[in-house]
Amino acid sequence: MFDEAFSVAAVADALGNLACRFDVDVLAECDSTNARLLTLAESGAPSGRVIAALHQTAGRGRRGRNWFSAPGDSLTFSLLWRLPPDAPLSGLSLAVGVALACALEDLGIAGVSLKWPNDLLLHGRKLAGVLIELVPGASPPAAVIGIGMNLRRPQGMPEDLCRTAAALIEADLEADIPLPATVELLARLLTALHEALITFAVSGFPAFREAWQKRHAFNDCAVQLLGDISEPLAGICRGVDFDGALLLETADGRQRIISGEVSLRPS
Ligand code: BTN
Repeated sequence: MFDEAFSVAAVADALGNLACRFDVDVLAECDSTNARLLTLAESGAPSGRVIAALHQTAGRGRRGRNWFSAPGDSLTFSLLWRLPPDAPLSGLSLAVGVALACALEDLGIAGVSLKWPNDLLLHGRKLAGVLIELVPGASPPAAVIGIGMNLRRPQGMPEDLCRTAAALIEADLEADIPLPATVELLARLLTALHEALITFAVSGFPAFREAWQKRHAFNDCAVQLLGDISEPLAGICRGVDFDGALLLETADGRQRIISGEVSLRPS
């Protein structure tokens, strides 16, 4: 598991019939797979272009943060997806979260849940993050969907991150189902994303809402929303709206939180 032969040919093999829908590059090292793919997208790279890296030297996280990973300890990749002209974009990152969660569950992994807007948790700790960046000026819209998943706790991970992080190697598995090799895992995630993105283009987030709510880690829980510039906002999580907005019951009534530029913390 988590090995070894992480090559373009091995990924194509693992993708089987879907290999023709993706154009995958595996880099030993790069700054950020999102940054690389954004550049390729701006010069016209087609939907389905994927860059995976064994190591990122400047991985990007949400809210301008860094994404910490260590060589071989994380699966880090980005997928370019071009959407039809009138496709909705709201809730895209939540739909991606649902696709990833379902793929892990299909691998027999228990304890996966979702934290708004786009974290994947394993037994309440962060297993994976999603960073979606829209390609500037692209019309119809195009999204670079970046995913970082901890396979093991990355060596040298800062202590504060370590406290809240999970790794796939810690997953509870249904009996007799071994964890997959990294290429197999990537292929499973890409396959799930492929199906989800096709559905999303037609039906938008409503097609994923129920599946998201079912996996919502903080439903009916007291939370705080922390922003860089705004005051913390306290309330009770009441799931998500039809467009992926978080519904928060606050002292001033129910509020719809649209901006992803906040972090949610359990109170
Ligand atoms: C988050 O902050 O939770 C989102 C993290 C997203 C990290 C991934 S790793 C692959 C891709 N390339 C990047 O530079 N970032 C994303």
